[in-house]
Amino acid sequence: MKPIIDKLHDDHINFIKLLEFLETQKNLLKSCQQIDIESILDAIQYMKEYPDLVHHPLENVVFKYFLADHDEVCDELKALLQEHDELPVLTDKLMEMLQSALAAVPQKREELCRYLEEYIVIQKEHMNKEESLAYPTIKSVLNDHDWENISSELEFIKDPLFGNNVKKSYQALLQKVIG
Ligand SMILES: [Fe+2]
Ligand SMILES: [Fe+2]
Repeated sequence: MKPIIDKLHDDHINFIKLLEFLETQKNLLKSCQQIDIESILDAIQYMKEYPDLVHHPLENVVFKYFLADHDEVCDELKALLQEHDELPVLTDKLMEMLQSALAAVPQKREELCRYLEEYIVIQKEHMNKEESLAYPTIKSVLNDHDWENISSELEFIKDPLFGNNVKKSYQALLQKVIG
């Protein structure tokens, strides 16, 4: 079986696709063009449901297992753990802002646009830190036995958007994200 860290890396590739979709929508919003509200709502719902509630908690298990016995990248991992607590708060705020922008107040749309821009940057930077330093260090230090120990602690929940069984409410969004 693939170590969980490879699966987490595959998640990042999917999240980037979703963020790119959100970025396209943000650019449309910025230039006052028609946006796909339903799909944006689904995309943010997905961010809450899978990255925030499944992907980050899985990383927490891996990072904490590593931190228990190793000193490498200790500060960086602690900062990432902290960000895992903060990111869901940002997603909730984004959902709230989208809902008030739907009330068609023009300044709320501008505010939403700025916040969405910031949200995408924060999410990408978070993944970049994981991909550039945390994951490679952990992969180079842990062995097969460690990965078995970690797997035994995990509860696997399937990705409802990019997994094999796409949740009905995400089928339209998937078509738009993967084009
Ligand atoms: Fe993370
Ligand atoms: Fe991640």
